[in-house]
Amino acid sequence: MITLGVLISGSGTNLQAILDRIADRSLDARIGVVVSNRPDVKGLDRAGAAGVPAEVIDHRGFADRASFETALVARLRAAGVELVVLAGFDRLVTQVLLAAFPGRIINIHPALLPAFKGLHAQRQAVEYGVRVAGATVHFVDADVDHGPIILQAAVPVDQEDTPETLTARILAVEHQIYPAAIQLFAEGRLTVEGRHVRISGTRPPLPPPLVRRA
Ligand code: GRF
Repeated sequence: MITLGVLISGSGTNLQAILDRIADRSLDARIGVVVSNRPDVKGLDRAGAAGVPAEVIDHRGFADRASFETALVARLRAAGVELVVLAGFDRLVTQVLLAAFPGRIINIHPALLPAFKGLHAQRQAVEYGVRVAGATVHFVDADVDHGPIILQAAVPVDQEDTPETLTARILAVEHQIYPAAIQLFAEGRLTVEGRHVRISGTRPPLPPPLVRRA
């Protein structure tokens, strides 16, 4: 069974989805540690309620990104982490973390990459006027929201949508595809070839295809 290290900065609904899929045994994984770079966030309460080790490593207590990540890597290694799962983690990742877990860091972004990288992707999508938005699970590389794509899911954008309503619709599919992507990794079914992630065997059930509402 694979051991996950989940990095959070906030509410942790993706962490909750992972915990729920572990609990119902549709995700064959355990969480070695949850680390938040911010104190007093709801995600820490979720980890506590599930009986998972959780702690704060506050980035503000370190001189630079490298020393923060050195502490992070030490904690992840101490927990026996095999896959690092960024779940609403709001710090840029550097070579320190990348070199410690090569090909073993994944992220979820609330947009259909490569559209709308960076902060406030849902607001970017609403302001741009797209008809379709979604979520992307990808391997992490040195560039922001850039690494090879594992899974994506699309949702419609209604003309009445606000960033808040679109965020809620996207989160619902995030909570499906993130545990599904972790399960694929845990089964050893993902192979990275350049930008392409090959998935061996039968693909997992994904959200139904996008259908416009009448
Ligand atoms: C999600 O929208 C995720 O895609 C983005 O940050 C948000 C985290 O939400 N990277 P939560 O903390 O999992 O609720």
